[in-house]
Amino acid sequence: MAAPLRFGLVGYKFMGKAHSNALSRIPMFFDTDRPIQRKVLCGRDAAWAGEAARRLGWQEVETDWRALVAREDIDCVDITAPSNVHKEIALAAAANGKHIFCEKPLALNLADAREMLQAARKAGVRHQIGFNYRFAPALVLAKRMIEEGRLGKIFHVRGSFLQDWIIDPEYPRVWRLDKAVCGSGSLGDLGAHVIDAARYLAGEFASVTGMSRTFVRERPLVERMEGLSGKAAQGAPRAPVEVDDATGFVCEFACGAMGMFEATRFAQGHKNDMRIEVNGEKGSLRFAFERMNELEYFSAQDDEGLQGWRLIQVSEGVHPYWDKWWPAGHVIGFPETFCHELYEFIQCVAQGRECVPSFEDGVRCAQVMEAVELSIQRKAWVDVDSL
Ligand SMILES: NC(=O)c1ccc[n+]([C@@H]2O[C@H](COP(=O)([O-])OP(=O)(O)OC[C@H]3O[C@@H](n4cnc5c(N)ncnc54)[C@H](O)[C@@H]3O)[C@@H](O)[C@H]2O)c1
Repeated sequence: MAAPLRFGLVGYKFMGKAHSNALSRIPMFFDTDRPIQRKVLCGRDAAWAGEAARRLGWQEVETDWRALVAREDIDCVDITAPSNVHKEIALAAAANGKHIFCEKPLALNLADAREMLQAARKAGVRHQIGFNYRFAPALVLAKRMIEEGRLGKIFHVRGSFLQDWIIDPEYPRVWRLDKAVCGSGSLGDLGAHVIDAARYLAGEFASVTGMSRTFVRERPLVERMEGLSGKAAQGAPRAPVEVDDATGFVCEFACGAMGMFEATRFAQGHKNDMRIEVNGEKGSLRFAFERMNELEYFSAQDDEGLQGWRLIQVSEGVHPYWDKWWPAGHVIGFPETFCHELYEFIQCVAQGRECVPSFEDGVRCAQVMEAVELSIQRKAWVDVDSL
């Protein structure tokens, strides 16, 4: 039997749980070339990390990621801590010859993202970024259909990611609103996914110009917070918010298509509303993550008088990843996207192949985001490749 791939996980909350869940379920549904071991979970507080390790099925605990990445009995380091520590952990993991899976956005900025890519390349380790939305079977099918030429020349790409969880001005300034920890607000958190999905379907961004708003400029501080919902104590000290609450931008793709994008946490009624639509000369495709088992398709080649949007139920054995899951129509959801991405990562490590999406995709995404930010500062168009 092949030697197990021994994982070390940094972080154990939202994404830590999603990755632990995926690593525990992959062997139930997928055949991997090497077995998976959930070896060490790393969190700064020994008691909390110990409790998390017990619940999430990890064998051991470390309280310092430096100790984790130096361990000889770890093959892969999985980073699910906030963005401000991604680079430091990834550089150390690469220096120790560990394969790296890192959550998005890759880093606080483009320069740091590039440093991570260079370090992973230099060390010759596998590297993958957590753009899990592109692992929804419907988006994999959409890409396949575009590659088959079903849309022809692409004219428009329209992407949005809308949420509504920080509209209350008393909502605390959690790490996702602290520029030093997250780098950017809606753009890096939500925009990154939709930028990646657009690159996946339509290719590289050429130039961008955007606008952004911070609607609530000061918020109360909290000491510790679980998940996304929480309240600050009465009279808690307040701190400025220096990241975008909402960012929108228009762009041109290298293929000549026009793009329009929006990322916000201020769209009342929208919970995790990630959408992307592509319009080409022969047809259109549209996807909405909250209905992730479906892909809408319009073909201008259908018979006259019988044309219209068709709803493809992407839940049959012929669809990407479906032969691993359930009978047709027994739908899957958000957690399974993590199974798909980590299954690919494991197979790439086991087979010595380049991962996709890699840190290079993380760098490309960071380049688009930095171009958007620069365009906002300059009130001008910015060529993405000039950065
Ligand atoms: N792919 C997705 O859909 C998705 C969704 C949410 C978040 N994310 C990304 O995942 C990352 C984590 O986000 P989250 O929502 O899980 O955050 P979270 O606040 O729920 O969890 C962060 C974890 O990191 C730990 N941590 C923080 N600093 C640390 C340090 N210095 N050393 C060790 N552990 C540390 C915390 O204790 C916690 O366990 C971010 O980069 C975020 O952008 C991705």
